[in-house]
Amino acid sequence: MYLNHFGFKEKPFSITPDPDFLYFSDQHKAALAMLEYGVLEQSGITVVTGEVGCGKTTLIRHLLRRIPYDKLTVGLISNVHTSLGSLLHWVMLALKLYEGKEEVSSLRLFSELQEFLVREYAGGRRVVLIVDEAQNIGAAALEELRMLTNINADKDELLQIVLVGQPQLLKLLEQPELAQIAQRVTAEYHLEPLNITETLAYIRHRLQVAGGPPTVRFDIQAAHVIYYFSCGVPRLINTLCDHALVVAYANNRKTVDLETALDAVRQKRIGGVERFRKRTEEAENTKQVIQAATGIDIEVAVNG
Ligand SMILES: Nc1ncnc2c1ncn2[C@@H]1O[C@H](COP(=O)(O)OP(=O)(O)OP(=O)(O)O)[C@@H](O)[C@H]1O
Ligand SMILES: [Mg+2]
Repeated sequence: MYLNHFGFKEKPFSITPDPDFLYFSDQHKAALAMLEYGVLEQSGITVVTGEVGCGKTTLIRHLLRRIPYDKLTVGLISNVHTSLGSLLHWVMLALKLYEGKEEVSSLRLFSELQEFLVREYAGGRRVVLIVDEAQNIGAAALEELRMLTNINADKDELLQIVLVGQPQLLKLLEQPELAQIAQRVTAEYHLEPLNITETLAYIRHRLQVAGGPPTVRFDIQAAHVIYYFSCGVPRLINTLCDHALVVAYANNRKTVDLETALDAVRQKRIGGVERFRKRTEEAENTKQVIQAATGIDIEVAVNG
């Protein structure tokens, strides 16, 4: 495997959301700050959205490692399929109040949730529910969530909600029938893909975390190609960089150069470059920079 060839301890560009590899661009810092605020301070609803594959789930995993669990109870819901039971069932599963084995009526679940929230409040603990992939839960489930935030004691709301999802979540929240939940959103942040400078730093960072002596080099033109074809989307950067390492390994090379990167792009069609055609101006500039330096039009080199 290429791990030995390059001396890595682990794969530098896996596509799992592993928080050990987090690179803190200014945007990732800001998104994390918003998530922390939503979890630690905020009452009401926090919404963090971001383009597909930009690091939302990775940030949540990082956050979950740092939570003061003596003061907070946190439930995480990901991949909700409301076809497999009501949202309330998912909430109870996430808070570990229900194992999902027996049939329990929504009414009973609701009263158990209410009792739990009051108990936690009396014990000085706050309860936060983080919903990842919230763009998939649908309008009805979002409305259900809003009703759960109405459970309160004295003047305090007992359940805080953090919604994380792809840009469609914003569209969903703009629908008139969701105005009530939209108005409860008191903190929001939108995560965009990385810019060229961040992409270069991101690649360096992941190579460093993967460990081993620095025997591999991505040259600057290769990194520019990867930026151009990924448009700075971390998951696509990972896919292309991983392919580029495989190509370099196959050619018994320790450097990823322009041709290696172009080869990697040529080989990676499914779910990769072909799906991310929303070229940014900065990506277009990158293409010009490479062309000026090498005379190669990278779009033509890859697509013919
Ligand atoms: N700031 C970052 N530092 C290091 N790796 C990152 C960063 N952002 C994203 N990644 C990596 O990119 C890949 C995709 O990230 P992740 O799954 O968190 O994206 P997502 O926004 O949750 O995507 P989706 O919209 O599909 O749910 C993962 O391998 C992740 O580790
Ligand atoms: Mg995700």
